[in-house]
Amino acid sequence: MAFDYTDRTVFVAGGTSGINLGVAQAFARAGARVSVLSRRQEKVDAAVASLRELGAEAAGFVADVRDYPAVEQALKDAHERFGAFDVLVSGAAGNFPAKATGMSANAFKSVVEIDLLGTYHVLRAAHPLMRKPGGAMINISAPQAFLPMNMQMHVCSAKAGVDMVTRVGALEWGGDGLRVNSVVPGPIADTEGMDRLAPTEDARRAVMDSVPLKRYGHSSEIADCCLWLGSAMAAYVTGAVIPVDGGWSLGGASTLGAGFERFAQS
Ligand code: HXC
Ligand code: NAP
Repeated sequence: MAFDYTDRTVFVAGGTSGINLGVAQAFARAGARVSVLSRRQEKVDAAVASLRELGAEAAGFVADVRDYPAVEQALKDAHERFGAFDVLVSGAAGNFPAKATGMSANAFKSVVEIDLLGTYHVLRAAHPLMRKPGGAMINISAPQAFLPMNMQMHVCSAKAGVDMVTRVGALEWGGDGLRVNSVVPGPIADTEGMDRLAPTEDARRAVMDSVPLKRYGHSSEIADCCLWLGSAMAAYVTGAVIPVDGGWSLGGASTLGAGFERFAQS
């Protein structure tokens, strides 16, 4: 299915590597003007260059999603340059495998602040700058949002909150003509997230075994869902939490919780 985003404006927070960069590139290929934001200048520059190579008008912003004024300024600058956002994707996140008692209070807080507070910051600051009616906000969640996993108390807590931002946002902003949805990737190949959780070949095989479709997903499969959610084909879809995970969230991800512990110790 080809989507046409010509003359549309897209902003991807955390869009400079992995899944989120794949999402930004898919919108660029579909003709959108695309902005990305993350902490590191070199990643922002490389992401913008890749988007321009695809023929897109693109801009990059350096900010930490934990810093509300910096996020607000970046969104205002992108809005001034490219106009109201048709699609906003919020995907900045942090993760490392650690037992609840094996991390400091600051470690827990860091992940909650990046994932949950950061998502709130991005959506809160973007709200006045979205196209209304018709804009679509998409949060990148994780199966941890609804499946408890060993060594993931910080991420489970943060991503559960992210999905509530999605649902309450959908309730409060539906009347403004905005839709808010979560996409829940399963284990995605060649990403920082899975490299951290399943760093060895054995670990990767165990993860694949736990997925009903018996394989890792690809960033392009997450991007396809985002292209659909941002389009008129999803005009009546809001407040949804949509797994794109080969069936992993049916239970495999949770049974693997003990696996993360085993992998981390091996
Ligand atoms: C225990 C750890 C730790 C670890 C860091 N910390 N790594 N604790 N085990 N492996 C602790 C530090 O000691 C510190 O606590 C606190 O966390 C903050 O660390 P900093 O490095 O100072 O923080 P910061 O620079 O803000 O970095 C945040 C981060 C980092 C989350 C810790 O890893 C990061 O920037 N990650 C972004 C990239 C990423 O994680 N991508 C994967 C996303 S995948 P103290 O007490 O010492 O100060 C994902 C879900 C995947 O989100 C789902 C797959 C199914
Ligand atoms: P990734 O490559 O590490 O992507 C994270 C992005 O967020 C990077 O662009 C990073 O760039 C940025 N970022 C991190 N902390 C930030 C902060 N404080 N402020 C601003 N930007 C920040 O990870 P990924 O594995 O592709 O994961 C992407 C998303 O998918 C995350 O939301 C993750 O939870 C979700 N997810 C991933 C998987 C998977 O299989 N990988 C599965 C389920 C869900 P900088 O370092 O430059 O800031």
